[in-house]
Amino acid sequence: MTAPEIRTALLAWYDANARALPWRAPPGSGRRTDPYRVWLSEVMLQQTTVPHATPYFLKFLQAWPSVTALAAADDADVMAAWAGLGYYARARNLLKCARAVAEDHGGVFPDSEAGLMRLPGLGPYTAAAVAAIAFDRPANVVDGNVERVISRLFAVEEPLPAAKPELKRLAAGLVGDERPGDWAQALMDLGAVVCRPKAPLCDRCPLTAHCAAYARGDHESFPRKSPK
Ligand code: ADE
Repeated sequence: MTAPEIRTALLAWYDANARALPWRAPPGSGRRTDPYRVWLSEVMLQQTTVPHATPYFLKFLQAWPSVTALAAADDADVMAAWAGLGYYARARNLLKCARAVAEDHGGVFPDSEAGLMRLPGLGPYTAAAVAAIAFDRPANVVDGNVERVISRLFAVEEPLPAAKPELKRLAAGLVGDERPGDWAQALMDLGAVVCRPKAPLCDRCPLTAHCAAYARGDHESFPRKSPK
């Protein structure tokens, strides 16, 4: 199993099967999404599903079409628009970060993972996701969906959460210079649509030939979980 073969197979699948999402440029279009949209969608998606987050994303974009517009918003208006997404600390961090981009960076998001990490209220997952999706940087974007895909691909026996560093290391080994933004989103889509927690659709998966869990016939038992 080689990383380039896995990348080629999954990117071809993504070209044909990418979900059309309002914060996403079509694969292969050569277009990149505005970092503001990527950042806003990723913060929302850390706590909820794509269908639940989508109307909030559209509402925010209409009210505050740019990071400078959001930075100038009244806190109370942003909190009210966030109601229903939960975790108000995220909304407060959102404003803190928007104001830092507006005031310290002239309204332009830093274009590297390290630069993004220095923004207040923006954590390592979001920095990696924005660097990859908005700037096509080869950042390692690992959320819960990606952890599941990787745990099956490599049949990782160590249970979650202890396996997190190992899963991250294995995921990093698959990131390449070819279309890293599409790669990150392809892994997320595969996890959401095909490599589902229950009843994964292996007959539609482009990676079965590379998947250690599939070869063993017990793909659904991954990721392993610690006994409660
Ligand atoms: N979940 C979190 N971020 C996502 C993205 N960019 N595309 C699809 N699902 C996601």
